[in-house]
Formats: sequence, structure tokens, C-alpha cells
Amino acid sequence: MRALSFRLIACLPAMLLFVPLLSAQSKSKPVDAEGHQWWQHAVFQEIYPRSYMDSNNDGIGDLNGIASKMDYLKWLGVDVIWIAPCFPSPQVDFGYDVSDYENIDPMYGTLADFDRMQKIGKQNGVGIVFDFVVNHTSDKHKWFIESAASKTGPYADWYVWKDGKGANQPPNNWQSTFGGSAWQFVGTRGQYYYHYFYPQQPDLNWRNSKVAAAMYGSTVFWYKRGVVGFRLDAVDTLFEDPNLTDNPIQPGKNEYGDPNMFPKYNDKLPEVHDVMKGLRNAANPYNAVLIGETWTSNVAELKDYYGKKHDELQMPMDLMFTELKPLKADIFRKHIAAVYSSGEWPVWVMSNHDIKRAYSRFADGKHDDNIAKVMAAMYLLLRGTPIMYYGEEIGMQNNDPTRKEDVKDPIGQLGWPEQKGRDGERTPMQWNDTPNAGFTKGIPWLPVPASYQTHNVASEKADPNSVLNFYKNLLAMRHSDPALLDGDYVAVNESDANVYSYLRRYKNRAVLVVLNMSESSQTVSVDLSAQGFGAMQAKTLLTTAKAGDTQALDGISLAPYTVYVGEVTK
Ligand code: GLC
Ligand code: CA
Repeated sequence: MRALSFRLIACLPAMLLFVPLLSAQSKSKPVDAEGHQWWQHAVFQEIYPRSYMDSNNDGIGDLNGIASKMDYLKWLGVDVIWIAPCFPSPQVDFGYDVSDYENIDPMYGTLADFDRMQKIGKQNGVGIVFDFVVNHTSDKHKWFIESAASKTGPYADWYVWKDGKGANQPPNNWQSTFGGSAWQFVGTRGQYYYHYFYPQQPDLNWRNSKVAAAMYGSTVFWYKRGVVGFRLDAVDTLFEDPNLTDNPIQPGKNEYGDPNMFPKYNDKLPEVHDVMKGLRNAANPYNAVLIGETWTSNVAELKDYYGKKHDELQMPMDLMFTELKPLKADIFRKHIAAVYSSGEWPVWVMSNHDIKRAYSRFADGKHDDNIAKVMAAMYLLLRGTPIMYYGEEIGMQNNDPTRKEDVKDPIGQLGWPEQKGRDGERTPMQWNDTPNAGFTKGIPWLPVPASYQTHNVASEKADPNSVLNFYKNLLAMRHSDPALLDGDYVAVNESDANVYSYLRRYKNRAVLVVLNMSESSQTVSVDLSAQGFGAMQAKTLLTTAKAGDTQALDGISLAPYTVYVGEVTK
């Protein structure tokens, strides 16, 4: 507990400011007999707006483009889309550098386009979650422009300003996660400001209660306009040690050539939880959900983000799940058991706009689509809320740049070739097999991979065995089956190194999920009597293996990378 008392005192103004809101906490109505909230029954999907659908053919996706695909999202079974930032922005970090939190960037449309998209979404049963960049603004935000101009103006203390240690010496050794020092000198103030990400993304000073009030107010602006929640960007790094203690250096260098550093004094400081509570207080009157970009290294850290009284994030993402490899039954079984052991409601994520696509991570070149189906069944049938990534449902692959001059993501230019940036997982959605996959009639901002000819919405809709129809069927099942909505989770056949099997039990029914996560054929025998289900056969619900309508449980044959899902009753 480093300097805890100091921190409590420093946070008091912000805490006091929000005490009245506490009384506005509303307990929202559950959607089922188990007391679950709406977001526990929902399927979420992240949409990267630059790449989803381009309505005006300038090569960049936009809100009207998203609006035009709401019927597709409904057909697929997506209940909520999280749209990556579409606020006004210089686009240094493609929207994660916000210059106005209460408007839409003209490249994406207008506030009226937002209202229209929100309305069409509502008609299709698709809610909108926006992406709130909490840690930093753009250096072109008016708050920062004023803050940089003078040490005494009204915004002087809205960012993290410090004197250098000496001439040309930054205040301490902290590094930006995007390479180089985390400090940038500004002559007008004769001081440095702190940026955990790019220099164009100065960190807000969350110890200033005015910052907290303005930011909480911006979330309310959007709740009033109909957004049903926020995905909170980069929450781990909201606070820094006020004493600016140097971080410990570790052996070796990172991909930018900087020494490895353990972010002991600028990552997950305890004050982060006060801000999570403040954001939650603002969300509660609107029954809104908060999703966190929570990079944790163990389940205990993840549990912290829910709040001791469940008064912080309802949905901190389990991003450790995106790091599991290789594809082995044991690895997934073990991690999933650890997550459930915390007793919290998990949030399952396989990839996003910062992480190589799951399809490309697990493909073996021989069973690629089948592997994608195994991974889909594995996580979409678990207890918890899933967040899919756009294009995952059609088996989109990464398309990494092969030449430095093609790279759009600045970290790819800085770290080339070790770090190729995140362009590969951000390519245009593949709608059909016409040029540019039907995303635009202009020049797409990123090239479409050749796989669009086989992996696109139109062709896959027509193929009953496609990855897309498999996802659609899984999601339909997940929405209607009480055992998948409300049932518990029990792993079965835990010593099987190749086949991962689990049961979702609810009252006198259960859904059995059997996944061959190996490249060889397997025959498994499942005895569920210890779990309360003595019958030795199942009714087949969905399978990529060869199974009849009824399947004997003492000999389920699974070709390499296949799925069997069946129903058992008491
Ligand atoms: C988050 C975003 C990432 C962005 C960074 C800085 O990690 O997901 O895309 O670059 O925050 O805002
Ligand atoms: Ca456009």
C-alpha cells in the first residue's frame, strides 16, 4: 500500500463531488428468474467504424454505413455493437485521440446521422455502446491547447505537467507504451507533459475533480442520446505515482529498442477504482453497461475491476483469454476454470482491433474453417457475455503489411519490422466477392485480403456449412436455450488432453459441448451420472462431426477439429 493516505486525501474532492449521485443508483429490472441483467443475455460485437461499411465511397467506413447493416446484425444475432471511437479526432491513433467528446467526426457523419443509426439499431434490436477514451485526449482538444498555453489558466491543471530533472532531462524514466520517453517538453510552460501513449495523446489529470466532472458529464450526454453503455479505453493507466518514482528496469529491450520496464508506478494504481465508481454512478440511472479494456495478469486483478460491492465495471474484459496458446484443450480448460473460480460474470473476448485475429492465430493451413468453428463453439456457449470482433463470424484473416511504406498504424512504422502495427486486424469488412469486398466503391483505406473471394457475407450466407452460418446457429441457440442463458458450467472428462468437454446445466436439462481441439480423430465417452444426468444419450443440437439426431454418449466420434453439441435430460 504505497502512500495510500496521500492518495485518499488527493481523491477526496472528486469523491465528495459525486456523493449526491450515489442516491441516484437504480437497481434495474432483471431479465430472467435468475436475476440477470440485460447485458448478461446479450451478445456484443465490436465494430471498427473505419472498416465496416463506406456509404459515401471515400474509402472510410461511416455511421450511415453501419446503419445500413443493422438488418445483417439482427439476422446474425448481435444485440449490441461497441463502435470504436468516432468522435472528432486528428486520427493520429485512428480516433483514440479525441478532440471533442460530444460530437461525431465529419468523416464518420454528424450527430443527426448518429441519431438515425441509433434509431434504426433500436428497430432491429441492436443497441449502441460507444468507446470512451478516459486516459487521455488529443493534443488538439481545446482543454490541452489551453493547458499548454499557460501555467495559470483555467485548464492549467487538467493534464499531468511536471518540471524536468534538469536541462533536457525528463522528470523520470517512464516510457510510453508506444515507444520512447513518456514525457514531452513544451516551451510555453517550460515543463513536460506525460503521455502513456503517443505524444499527441496527453494523459488527463484525474486527480483534478474538474476533469472527473467534465468526463462523467460527457458520458451522460451520450446516455441521453441513447447509447446503452461504454467500452472504457485504457483504464489501467489513469493514475500515476505523484512522487514520480522511477520504474524498475528489467533485462532486455522492447520492440522499439527501449529497455524493458516494469510499470510499477503508472499502471493499476488503486485510485483507478474511484473513477470506475464515478463512471458507474453516472451510468446507473440509465441502466447502462460499462465494459473495461482491462489488461490484467491474473484473475485476482480482473476481479478487482468488478468492485468490492459490484459498484465498478459490470463487464471487465478478460483479455488474458486472447493470449492463450497454443490451441490445446488443457490450456483453455485451465484458464476458464480459473476465471469461474472468482465467482464473477466473465466477459469472453477472442480478438479486437489491437490483437491479431483469432482465425489467423489458430489456423493450421489445413483445417482453418473447422478450427474457427471449434473456437466459436468453445467460447460462445460458455457462461458469461461474449464480445465478438467484426468479421470473425465470416472467418476473416489478418492482412499484415509486408512493406514498411504501406503501414498506417504509427506503432508499425516506429517498431518495424518487429512491430508491424495493427493494420492487419483492421481491414475492411468482407461483404461480397465484388471488388473491395463490397465495402467501398472508392479506394479502401486499408487493402482487402485475397480471402474475401471465399470468405464474405454473401457467399457464406448461401452455404449452410459456412463459418457464418455456424456462428448464426450458435447465436440463435445461445439466445433461446435456457441452459445456455442461465445454466452453470461444469467441465467433464477433465483428463482428456485432446477433447475439451463441458456441461451447462439448468434445472432438469443440460447442454453438453464436446470440442475436438486436436488434429487427429478422437472418440470420447462421456458419463454424466456424477453431474446428475444418468441417461447415456443426447439429442443433437449442432455439430460439425458426423452424428445422428440422437447420439450415444459412450462413443462420440469426432474428426479433427470438430464440434458436438447435444442436449441431455434427467
Ligand atoms: C487502447 C485502444 C488502442 C489505442 C490505445 C490508446 O488500447 O484499444 O487502439 O491505441 O488504447 O488510446
Ligand atoms: Ca465514408
